[in-house]
Amino acid sequence: MILLDGKKTSNDIKEEIAIAVDGMKERGEKVPHLAAILVGEDGASLTYVGSKVRACERVGFESTLVQMPDTTSEEELLNTINDLNTNDAIDGFIVQLPLPKHIDEQKVLMAVNPNKDVDGFHPENFGKMALDMDSFIPATPFGILQLLERYEVETKGKNTVVIGRSHIVGRPMSILMSQKGPAGNSTVTLTHSHTKNLSEITKQADIIVVALGIPEFLKGDMVKDGVVIVDVGISRVPDASKKRGYAIKGDVAFDEVSKKSSFITPVPGGVGPMTIAMLLKNTLIARERLANL
Ligand code: GUN
Repeated sequence: MILLDGKKTSNDIKEEIAIAVDGMKERGEKVPHLAAILVGEDGASLTYVGSKVRACERVGFESTLVQMPDTTSEEELLNTINDLNTNDAIDGFIVQLPLPKHIDEQKVLMAVNPNKDVDGFHPENFGKMALDMDSFIPATPFGILQLLERYEVETKGKNTVVIGRSHIVGRPMSILMSQKGPAGNSTVTLTHSHTKNLSEITKQADIIVVALGIPEFLKGDMVKDGVVIVDVGISRVPDASKKRGYAIKGDVAFDEVSKKSSFITPVPGGVGPMTIAMLLKNTLIARERLANL
């Protein structure tokens, strides 16, 4: 069994990005600038956005955090998005999800300038991705592809089963794994909460991507020997033996499933760190595209 080490791989990618930024500085060019809008005080979102800002500093990017109270109206948020859309200093930005209930998420994502949409959530980017055109690929699926590529995991002709059809992970992953490309060319089954006999399907899988958010959902008796496992889950489970009172669990029962796996991502330290690295990569791409306009 080989661990798909997202911590190491994401550090390699961040190092590559930092070298590219050094080159920009030496040539006197503008360095990439990522902005993040955070509405409200959700604890997990604060942690994620904080990590994104720190990662920017590490690679030499500029960063801006726009914090808005959870009483922010939809109109105020749309105005802020418009400011970032038209601010030449900002190369890319994200609106951290989830948003407060009174704000229409679709309307907000549609308002982001597709050329600055480094999350790849705008329908223009999603459509381009599905049509094999140049676009921003959402960071988590992009990170998974990078892990598979860099560990030279064979995907061509394999049966890939994706569990979960979220717009951020499952749905784009199902498209990308079937596309022509180094991590791709596989035969994909997208499964979800209405799928019948899931175990029968997962037992046929050469590669399983689980993005459900249910701790330890995928058990050892649901997979075949030699399977490749990508675990996107990250849940806090109460654990009195830990100082902080909880443990971080993925969607895979790691001890059972890893025994049967050829490759597997750990949680934490697998897909999670890759997501931030690929957000930085998308921001670098955004800057390079803007510089060449
Ligand atoms: N919330 C959970 N994942 C993400 C992500 O990748 N981007 C944004 N903007 N919000 C998220």
